[in-house]
Amino acid sequence: GLTSHAARYVRIERADALPALAAAAEAVGCGTAAAGRAAGLLLLGGGSNVVLPPEVPALVAHIALRGIRVLRRDAGGTVVEAAAGEPWHALVEYCVGQGWGGLENLALIPGTVGAAPVQNIGAYGVELADRFESLTAFDLQAGRWVEMAAGDCRFGYRDSVFKREPGRWAIAAVRLRLPAPWRPVLGYPDLSADAASAPGRAGIAPRDVFDAVCRIRRAKLPDPAVLGNAGSFFKNPVVDAATHDALKARFPDLVAYAQPGGAYKLAAGWLIDRRGWKGRRMGPAGVHERQALVLVNHGGARAADIMALAAAIQTDVQAAYGVWLEPEPVVVAGAGA
Ligand code: EPU
Repeated sequence: GLTSHAARYVRIERADALPALAAAAEAVGCGTAAAGRAAGLLLLGGGSNVVLPPEVPALVAHIALRGIRVLRRDAGGTVVEAAAGEPWHALVEYCVGQGWGGLENLALIPGTVGAAPVQNIGAYGVELADRFESLTAFDLQAGRWVEMAAGDCRFGYRDSVFKREPGRWAIAAVRLRLPAPWRPVLGYPDLSADAASAPGRAGIAPRDVFDAVCRIRRAKLPDPAVLGNAGSFFKNPVVDAATHDALKARFPDLVAYAQPGGAYKLAAGWLIDRRGWKGRRMGPAGVHERQALVLVNHGGARAADIMALAAAIQTDVQAAYGVWLEPEPVVVAGAGA
């Protein structure tokens, strides 16, 4: 929902246009390809998980590659390949429509297929990494096409090599494995409550889980097409057991999830909500009234307004709990307060 102008813009509809991008950024005077890295290049998918400044000095390459195809079907499941510019939710819907389960927990996530590995998108107990087979990308630094397996992508919680090395990797296509036999993932509290109301849990189908996820998301999260937002604005912070135990003693209703290895993931929404931020506004930027983790643009906000609100929340949460909240979307240089 932020208005942003690109110094230069190009819409990429063919994968064979990707190799020329670094040189193109230089040719149009957008930074240099110094150190092999296209500093003056910004790759953009759906634009739903980035905080953009009013003016982007880079060459903005809008990845609009399309196409979905089935690569393999065997006893282990179905491998589907989708081009980077396909809308993510449409891919989920297509698979569910074919009766192939695996992606339904990730329904209604805004953005494109090519952006999904960047954040390692996740919701309701499933992450992209869980369904990932491989991807094809152009390495703008080395100047060559690469096929990357899960290990190469270094997936973490809302993290990947692509997020850590912005401007290096141009993802062209992503391959996902939809496992057979399919098993519903209903561990997330909201989802087990909702899906339990589906007709007979034994006969539950991918479509039932898909519908339940859509219902939950529509009830809780604002539609970015209606009210500008980037989903969760902060990651849920991971703290060690001692920090968790001390906080739990002070705040018995603290919401936290035990992680493998003894750490805990704290619900940032709870931390922020508990400090009274839900529904508050700072100018045109605000905290969503049903989800304290979502910052919204009430109209006419600029990146600086959103980042000023984010900074106020970070400072307050740090003072109250001693925990620092990291932003979840990609904050593009120049978007700071
Ligand atoms: N909570 C509050 N107040 C709030 C918001 C949340 O007390 O205002 C509490 C809830 O009651 C709940 C806990 O915090 O006990 C967790 O809330 P919720 O289930 O809504 O999930 P979340 O931690 O806020 C994460 C992801 C979402 C994902 C959901 C479902 C992150 C940063 N966010 O949100 O992902 O959809 O779980 O799996 O991990 C996104 O990344 O943009 C995103 C929306």
